[in-house]
Amino acid sequence: MSHPVPDARSLRFRIGAGLGVAVLTLGLGVTQLKAATEQAIAIDDATFDCLTAMTAVRGFFVDNLLGNLEATVAAAESPDGAMYPTGSVVQLVPTEVMVKQTPGTSPATNDWEFFELQVSEEGSTIVARGFVDVVNRFGGNCFGCHVKAEPKWDLICETGHGCDPLPITRDVIAGIQQADPRCRAPEEV
Ligand code: HEC
Repeated sequence: MSHPVPDARSLRFRIGAGLGVAVLTLGLGVTQLKAATEQAIAIDDATFDCLTAMTAVRGFFVDNLLGNLEATVAAAESPDGAMYPTGSVVQLVPTEVMVKQTPGTSPATNDWEFFELQVSEEGSTIVARGFVDVVNRFGGNCFGCHVKAEPKWDLICETGHGCDPLPITRDVIAGIQQADPRCRAPEEV
């Protein structure tokens, strides 16, 4: 009762220091948990939406499920090729998607997960997903074609990366891109 002010101060200091340690401990705990059980990125039908609302890079579209769009665009625009960052979404047409999963998910595919979707005005339905064994509606194995890209292109085919070219012209691809039923018509916006 003779020195209440210093007591209050030191109490405040002690609470502050204690909280600091608690936050630090919690932080370390979360980091360890993440390292031990790094979860694959959760993906469901609702993950996918209007193709042309994504970011256009040359003839295809990109996004990033972890909010790291800048890094995905940088990888896509790198003239010498690059490994795409975790969370990257890449699409050429509305129904076929590649998503870069968390490191170690699938070494064979550089952690790319392949998706075959069905799309309508109501949205997207995943009809097939996986790594080395997903086939598209024409019976073609995604990985089987994309693995032919030179290593520095991280399984991204485009043209001139080493994949066999698609038997359709750029005009046809552009038409398919613009016909995504999930994108609202301009007059509805
Ligand atoms: C017959 C070989 C073949 C099959 C099968 C195939 N692709 Fe592709 N894919 C290509 C080629 C070639 C391109 C580049 C076309 C272009 O830009 O002219 C491409 C483009 C893409 C792109 C845009 C990025 C890039 O690589 O250029 C994505 C994403 C993609 N395909 C995903 C898939 C998914 C998912 C599947 C399976 C559901 C699949 N593809 C099946 C050959 C194939």
